[in-house]
Amino acid sequence: MEILVQKGDILEVATDLLVVGAYESELLHDPFTERLNELLGGKMTKMAKAQEFEAKLGQTLIFAAPDKMDMEYVMVVGLGELKSSVVEAARLASGTAVQMAKKMGLRKIAIEFFGEDHEEFSAKNTAEAMTEALLLADYQFNVYKKRKGVSIKEVIIVAEDGRDARSAEKGIEKGRICVDGTTVARDLVNTPGQDMTPTRLAEAAEEISRISGETVKVEIFDRAQVEKMGMGAYLAVAQGADSELKFIHLTYTPTVDYKKTVAVVGKGVTFDSGGLSLKPGSSMETMKCDMAGAATVLGLFTALGRLQPKVAVHGIIAACENMPSGRAIRPGDIVKSANGKTIEILNTDAEGRLTLADALHYAQKFEPDYLVDLATLTGAIVVGLGEEIAGVFSNDNVLSNKLVKAGEETGEDMCALPLHSAYKKLIQSEVADIQNTSTSRYGGSITAALFLSEFINSSQKWAHIDIAGPAFAERPMNSYTGLGGTGFGVRTLIRWIEEL
Ligand code: BES
Ligand code: MG
Ligand code: ZN
Repeated sequence: MEILVQKGDILEVATDLLVVGAYESELLHDPFTERLNELLGGKMTKMAKAQEFEAKLGQTLIFAAPDKMDMEYVMVVGLGELKSSVVEAARLASGTAVQMAKKMGLRKIAIEFFGEDHEEFSAKNTAEAMTEALLLADYQFNVYKKRKGVSIKEVIIVAEDGRDARSAEKGIEKGRICVDGTTVARDLVNTPGQDMTPTRLAEAAEEISRISGETVKVEIFDRAQVEKMGMGAYLAVAQGADSELKFIHLTYTPTVDYKKTVAVVGKGVTFDSGGLSLKPGSSMETMKCDMAGAATVLGLFTALGRLQPKVAVHGIIAACENMPSGRAIRPGDIVKSANGKTIEILNTDAEGRLTLADALHYAQKFEPDYLVDLATLTGAIVVGLGEEIAGVFSNDNVLSNKLVKAGEETGEDMCALPLHSAYKKLIQSEVADIQNTSTSRYGGSITAALFLSEFINSSQKWAHIDIAGPAFAERPMNSYTGLGGTGFGVRTLIRWIEEL
């Protein structure tokens, strides 16, 4: 998809589908819709009335363009109320434009450059947000099917005189990079477990390092090396599977002076059958998504090489598959993690926290200023927050606020939840230092986060993001996030890192 900024009168552009936005409160006071209505001899008002179009967020009103105009169709997209997030409204409207054009078999769109240039809603930010949604809405995963969908050829963002077109172009460039990272993550998640093995994840990491040049390096450790490092918890999860485990360590080092180092750990269970504590069939259907945290890390690194932020970043993935077999770990088995703590494994389906325990321990060797992990960790978080919101658990409020705020800016919703230490009693074991499941049926996301906290040094600033809900969409999430892997977290992490 080609995206360009063009100055001029939007009602005079040559295109297939012209898209203008309107706020609820000013449907007919908006300069474009008002003129449009005039050109249509007042028919727009009539149609809006007949179709109950009130410019609510996401609502659309479509009509054939008047003969005088150089386009096929005109669509008005509702931007909702003025006081809501303007950037997100711009994303949602841009996504809707692409979806509608695709549905109608149109290949060219001209879209209003939303907003007005001011600080938080600058031309660069707006163009970036619009680009993200335009490209993400056009995403398709075609690898395994014959019939490929069409994609949009050209989008012209039409800017009024006085708008900062230069900055808009920079925004488009930035948006493209963020989407490329997100697309990498989506593709990795959508690839079925049969192909997306730990080895494939490692190869993807190597590929990213190769195309990123000098700044991104990667190290891959195999079973023997992982054994040497004493990662008994991670090894326990991997031992039931025929696929080889791969421990992946990416590093991005800025070419200039930098002050901060962060480590991002992603859960990389390429398929989660539950192990001997086997999941029921229907719960297993989407479990190829259990490496979504890892996919986010790889998506992030795809972008880092191109954005070159002034922050050093470690990306760490303990990749393996959770399978039942004669070699699989049993409920009741006790293993020793790399930090020396012993763990009683009561349920082999609570495997993510075992792989993460060793990965988090490893990450802290590099003394990062901030340590963040992303994991499709618990079904309980989906019960609590639903399918679109991630939960953030942190021992540092400043860090967690920054992550949540970055999420607000990118439209990836996250909610801070308590790391309630009194619940630690629920994961105390009779026979080991800790057990991998809670003795209570309730608060499962908190006890999972508390389990992880047992592997975090007291001075380490750390946040755990449970993405079990939004990592994989079982129904379309919004106009620019369709079914399947969402790439959740890539854009938020980029934003957070750039603002450190
Ligand atoms: N991978 C799952 C969590 C999950 C659930 C991810 C739904 C995405 C969607 C995780 O490994 C798991 O099985 N967790 C168990 C933990 C339980 C056994 C304590 C769960 O949530 O049921
Ligand atoms: Mg599991
Ligand atoms: Zn899992």
